[in-house]
Amino acid sequence: MKNWHRLNVSTEGALKIDVPSFCHANTERSDIYLPGNGGIWTFGKDEIFNQAWVDYVQETIPYIEITGALVFWRAPGYQHPAAHIDVAPKSSPSARDIEYEDNGFHATNSSDSMDKNDFYPVVSAYNFTLDPLDDSEMTWYKPKEWTNTYDYAELKKFTNAVHYDDVPLEKLNEVDSIRVGSKDLVMVRTNRLHNVRMGQRERWAISARAVMGWSSWKEAVETLKPWIVE
Ligand SMILES: [Fe+2]
Repeated sequence: MKNWHRLNVSTEGALKIDVPSFCHANTERSDIYLPGNGGIWTFGKDEIFNQAWVDYVQETIPYIEITGALVFWRAPGYQHPAAHIDVAPKSSPSARDIEYEDNGFHATNSSDSMDKNDFYPVVSAYNFTLDPLDDSEMTWYKPKEWTNTYDYAELKKFTNAVHYDDVPLEKLNEVDSIRVGSKDLVMVRTNRLHNVRMGQRERWAISARAVMGWSSWKEAVETLKPWIVE
């Protein structure tokens, strides 16, 4: 089973800010910032996306109700040595009854907890890169020796809003990869260990997050089948 699917959804007109300028001018609100190497920022949907595009996405695919975004920046060649799965607090998932005001996404995904049992794996995200010539690849992994991934990974916390389970790449075999590109949304699997292989170009990736309408990747793929183009 593939770990990504390209969707029949254009990214044209998605963004209402110049993301690199904004992020570099607002490093104090980043979730992680390594000068010269990379950074992660979170946004509520109204801070980063044009409402017309958010509406277009949901009109095209009723199952995708965008709530916010993570922005990932990496310098050319910067290689993170571990893979992770995305986790979010059980107490505050992207649930339907949450009101996303201001940077609501950040607030509602915050937790002080460092107990794994307080988190659930996020199944899917909707990604694109800013650079049409982006040469990085999102990569997926399986442990070399079978194990329950969720037990095996260490919960690491960058900030209250960004939680990852990190596993060193030496313990893993790569099983899939994709060059996401800038033109259309790619649904990517985030509850399997993943990382990014950098190329020669700077990478700016937008990862839209939506209300989670399913509990497994299989269910996500089956539900979105009519809109999958690759
Ligand atoms: Fe991730």
